[in-house]
Amino acid sequence: MKLNIADIEKIDEIQNAINEIMKINNNIYYETGNKKKYMIFTFGCQMNEHDTEVLSGLLEEMGYEHTNSIKESDIIIFNTCSVREHAENRVLGRISQLKPLKNIKPDLILGICGCMMQEKNMSEYVLEHFPYVDLIFGTHNIHELPVLIKKAMESNSVIYDVWENNQDIVENLPMTRKDKIKAYVNIMYGCNNFCTYCIVPYVRGRERSRKPEDIINEVKVLADEGYKEITLLGQNVNSYGRGLEKKIDFADLLYMINEMNGIERIRFTTSHPKDLSDKLIYAMRDCEKVCEHIHLPVQAGSDRILKLMNRHYTKESYLLLVDKLRQNIPDIAITTDIIVGFPSETDEDFIETLDLVKKAEFDLAYTFIYSKRTGTIAAQMDNQVQDEIKHKRLDELIKLQNSISLEKNSRLKDVVVEVLVEEVSKRDINKLSGRTRTNKLVHFPGDDSLIGCLANVKITEPRAYTLIGEILE
Ligand code: 5AD
Ligand code: SF4
Repeated sequence: MKLNIADIEKIDEIQNAINEIMKINNNIYYETGNKKKYMIFTFGCQMNEHDTEVLSGLLEEMGYEHTNSIKESDIIIFNTCSVREHAENRVLGRISQLKPLKNIKPDLILGICGCMMQEKNMSEYVLEHFPYVDLIFGTHNIHELPVLIKKAMESNSVIYDVWENNQDIVENLPMTRKDKIKAYVNIMYGCNNFCTYCIVPYVRGRERSRKPEDIINEVKVLADEGYKEITLLGQNVNSYGRGLEKKIDFADLLYMINEMNGIERIRFTTSHPKDLSDKLIYAMRDCEKVCEHIHLPVQAGSDRILKLMNRHYTKESYLLLVDKLRQNIPDIAITTDIIVGFPSETDEDFIETLDLVKKAEFDLAYTFIYSKRTGTIAAQMDNQVQDEIKHKRLDELIKLQNSISLEKNSRLKDVVVEVLVEEVSKRDINKLSGRTRTNKLVHFPGDDSLIGCLANVKITEPRAYTLIGEILE
């Protein structure tokens, strides 16, 4: 491992901690024949899932081995999400369940990191109410994990190290990727948009882009390792490149990656409608490896609510964008995120959302009840909507979207689609599953040896969320 951080002393400190812990863990392994074990609970988005791959990589570099058993674990980490209150409550519930285990296994190291710990009131709440937690750190210093574990081993009190911000990007961190076929590649961190409901800019910091050469090198390694699909990650990939020395935008990056051998499919998420340029649409159309799918969160259909959300587009301009995407990339699947019950949302506003959903004909929508996040602008707005109304609106929206998803998928009946075979289906071990280029999940009978290959599958039974098919020889 050759870390790349501006601060040389920091690199040495991290490397020394890794070496020391590895020595301790190796000794235990020689004496007992058992490796020390770790487990990570991940909440939230792909960005967090990918951070967990880095945490896993660091832990394995120190000689820990992954386990799925809480009881067997010597270190348990919660990588948390703060986008909605519900996710936060789940984390707190899970941590409290671990108290009895910590009582009988005092050497167990219990860590909490991620977005929730970047909220000052939340990390202080954990400090006060969960005194048996050993490590508290945030999104900006996951590379410090070895140093923090070392400190926790040497101390009886909690190690609390949450950085307020970090404009540096640490390259070359070890990673243990969850998958062997598909890989996430971060292209940028943070967000500058400050949508009024959203806590992300407060917990993930200001937007900063990775250098294109670092991204290309990572993709090259993935291609050499046999990965077939990459997903480029950023809170708003459409603003990639701002602030970099070299003049480059997201479309340029797509063209560069499209030229690389080995990788068969390129995906990306998430796109902000306000920054979706014609140049990017043409890049999606012209790069044969870029899949025909875009996740384009609309959030609401009422112009008044969109303005209050600070989204910088209107219902009409969003629908024009959808038209433009479909004109240029006829089979494109468009998915979205929608929030119901934003402060002051009236029945009339909500009808605008329903109308937009009908007109946009999304393939899939992730629907959320507005959750008040302390510190955001919307949390201070008057007219918070009653829970009962929020739930009613959510139900109505889901019902509408389900009928649209089913109708859209039913157009695929008897159509032959290209599927990247990913795994044995989780639902039915007699089937394989994979995704179409449009990111639709397909289950079909087939032999394990096809995993990692592209297969032609005829759709026999379209459903709202999945497709059932049969493989063509
Ligand atoms: N309440 C509900 N949903 C939210 N999202 C972000 N913040 C909130 C909030 N406070 C949703 C948005 C975003 C998705 C990742 O989570 O729809 O696109
Ligand atoms: Fe949150 Fe808006 Fe940034 Fe997305 S673009 S992470 S919704 S602030």
